[in-house]
Formats: sequence, C-alpha cells, structure tokens
Amino acid sequence: MYRKFLRLTKSLTVSFEKVVNFLTTQEHNPLYFHGALPLYIFWFLIFSGILLWMYYIPTLDRAWSSVNYISALPVPGDPVNEAAGIPYGAVVRGIHRWGAAGMMITTILHMLRVYFTDRHRSWRWLPWVTGVALLAFVLFVGLTGYLLVWDARAYYIVVATQRLLEAVPVAGAALSRFLVGGDGITDYTLTRFLFFHVGGAVLIFLLVWMHFIRLKQPVATPSRATNFMVLGFILVAAGTLPAINITRELLQKYAADPRIAAQALYVASDAPAQIGTLVDTIRYDAWYMFPYWLVQNVGVTWTWLILGGATLLLCVAPFYPKDRRANIAEVIEAKCTGCTFCSQDCPFEAITMVDRAPGSKFKQIAVVQAARCSECGICVGACPFQAIELPELHSKTLEADLLDLVKKGA
Ligand code: HEM
Ligand code: SF4
Ligand code: SF4
Repeated sequence: MYRKFLRLTKSLTVSFEKVVNFLTTQEHNPLYFHGALPLYIFWFLIFSGILLWMYYIPTLDRAWSSVNYISALPVPGDPVNEAAGIPYGAVVRGIHRWGAAGMMITTILHMLRVYFTDRHRSWRWLPWVTGVALLAFVLFVGLTGYLLVWDARAYYIVVATQRLLEAVPVAGAALSRFLVGGDGITDYTLTRFLFFHVGGAVLIFLLVWMHFIRLKQPVATPSRATNFMVLGFILVAAGTLPAINITRELLQKYAADPRIAAQALYVASDAPAQIGTLVDTIRYDAWYMFPYWLVQNVGVTWTWLILGGATLLLCVAPFYPKDRRANIAEVIEAKCTGCTFCSQDCPFEAITMVDRAPGSKFKQIAVVQAARCSECGICVGACPFQAIELPELHSKTLEADLLDLVKKGA
C-alpha cells in the first residue's frame, strides 16, 4: 500500500516536472535544482545578513531603533522617514526577509521532491536525516532572526518559547533560563539571540557538508537562468515590498497606502517590545512561526506532541517500508583477482579490498558493504573479469536482452 503510494507520488512528480519543462526547457527547469536552490538562497542571506550586522546593536533599548535606522520607512514626502536610515537599507533587509521565506519554501520543496520520488530510503538515510536536522536549523535561524528586531512580536515569541520550554519535564526551568541567559530578559538576552542566529547559520554549513558526504556529485548549483530567475524574484520582492519597522501610529497614518498595508501584512516588524506588555496575538509568518500559532490555538502540550511526532515521523521515514535490497553488488569469489578496479570506481566507497588467506592464488578480494551500496552497477562495468554482478541485473541477462533487441531491430 505504502509502496503504491510512493509509486503514485513519483509518477505525479515526474509528470508535473515534464509540464514545467514546456515553460522553462529541461535545462533550466528550477524543479531539477531542488537541492541547489536553498543553498543558492542561503548566500543571499549570508551577504545581506553581514550588511545588517554592521549596523545592528544587540541591546534592549537600541535593537529596535538600530534596525529601524537601517530601514526607515521609505515613504516619499515624509520628512522624518526620508531623512533617517541608510540608503537601500530597507531593500537589504527585504532581501534578508524574502530570502528567508525563499529558503524555507525551497527547502520544503526539496524535501517533498526527494520524498515523493522515493529517493530518501536505504543508503540515502544519511542525507535524509541530516536534511531533517537542516530543516530544524533553518527554522531555528529564521526564528532567532525575528527575535533580533526586538519588536512586540519578538517579545511575544520569547514568552511563548519560555512557556514551551518550561513544560519540559525536569529540565524545563533550566532550559527557559538558558534561552534568555538568566532569570529575566536583559541585554545579554539579545547578545545570545544574535549568537544563536549567526551560530545557527554556521552550523547549517556544517550540516550541508554532512548532507553531501554520501552524495557523490550533488547538483549544488542551479543553472544560470534559474539563478537569474531567483535573483530577480528576490530583488523585485525586496524592491517593491522592502522590510520596515512599523509602529501603530505609522500604520494608522499610512493606512490608505496599499503598499504599506501589504508590507504590514508580509514584511513589516511591529512596534518596539515593551517588557511586561504582551500583545494578544501576532502576525504569524507561515514559514517560521507556525509553532506559535499552534501554541495559541492548541496549547503547549499539543504543540510538543505535534512537533515531536512530525519530527519522529520524518526521522524514521527512510527506514519504512523495509527495503528489499535484493540488488546489492555481489562478488564472485572464484573470479575476483583483487585488482581493485571496482573499489576505485565505486562512487559510494562501498567496496573494500580484504586480504585473502595465505597461499591463495590472489592476494586480495573485493568485499561489498551492503549498507553503502546504492545498486548503481558501476563496479560491474569496472571489473575486467566479470567478477562482480548486480543479482537482478546480471550482465549475462542484460547481454541476452540487448542481443534480442538488436535481432528484433534487424
Ligand atoms: C538547507 C537545506 C538543504 C540544502 C542546502 C540541501 C541541499 C541538497 C543538495 C544540493 C542535494 C543534491 C541534489 C541532487 O544531486 O540532485 C541534496 C540531496 C538530498 N537531500 Fe537535501 N538539502 C537541504 C535540506 C534537505 C531536507 C530538509 C531534506 C529532507 C528531510 C533533504 C534530503 C535530501 C536527500 C534524501 C537527498 C538525496 C537525494 C538524491 O540522491 O537524489 N535535504 N540536498
Ligand atoms: S553497485 Fe557497485 S559501484 Fe555501485 S555502489 Fe554498489 S558496490 Fe559501489
Ligand atoms: S574489479 Fe573485479 S576482479 Fe577486480 S577487485 Fe573488483 S571484483 Fe575483483
């Protein structure tokens, strides 16, 4: 049943990609760069993040205003807001904000693609499990980014996170103190959030390296046209709806301006945080703030159960249904000369050369590590002695099939 489901999702995904090929051509179909896209967008986040960092002041009384200084409301004709800020600061912030949404969207797309096409099981469990960790880190880095603005929404999120952490048995209180760096929220809290945000981004790099360990030639750069398309999308989005801070007064003042209304919906931050004054509800960024939507709507316990359950399901996905793994390369002992060609050519380092017993005709024999074998068949082609075969695609059977086809063609 589950296998049938995966077969169906695979054929639907492939059909959908074929439709997109008509629009973009096969060479530039962005869906074929599903893994490369989050990595590409990550570079935008790093460069725009470094620029923002130059002006950011991580203290309770300066954080909001330092972010506001970067991106003062670009309303033509408003003397205060036109005069303040740094040129294109709001656009750089916009690139960071739209890029963050793009990173999450493309990461989820990538995850769905590998899942729907059944490329997440057997030896691919490592890229999958590190992928789950990457997803968690993308979420973590995005959320800590929202905290840095130190607006009413950030304060709301900190309080809700403390509630979530305090519900953890035994360690709850300690975790909550760890989050804010002490008994209450102080300047150190923001220094800590900045550390979480930047440190988390560095860890993403480390995880990407682990993600690639078992992938011989990962497609890690999109085509030039796809690059330009993504670049164009982020720049147009950041140019038309740059990220700004918006106080309630400003929102009222510019309520009639549709662009400000759209910004308030998508990319604007709230009024400055006031410790002790908690807003009733916040604007939820669908990509990063869904856990807090859950906290508000189903409560702390259910939020933990839903998030924990989803993570567990994702982590076990590569191990279900059990792989038949009938096509792992097999070495024919009598024919193997120990020449090492197969182990040199195997892209997944699945073949090791092992010494034979003293007095044997050949010194070594190739041994396949089943857990690493991806059933690609490269070793079969590499062996000059026909000493290694894929049981379900035996070279003799393939040869016979080919001859048959040639005869039919003739
Ligand atoms: C920061 C986020 C991520 C980045 C930058 C990233 C990057 C990549 C790249 C470049 C590839 C190679 C794609 C190819 O060769 O076609 C790849 C493969 C893979 N990724 Fe990710 N990934 C991310 C997140 C995830 C997530 C969230 C999952 C799943 C939970 C995941 C699961 C996989 C799997 C299973 C493969 C192997 C697929 C195959 O061999 O076709 N990745 N990833
Ligand atoms: S089929 Fe051969 S080359 Fe391919 S992974 Fe398995 S052992 Fe390596
Ligand atoms: S290439 Fe063939 S003969 Fe050489 S070590 Fe591998 S299996 Fe043995």
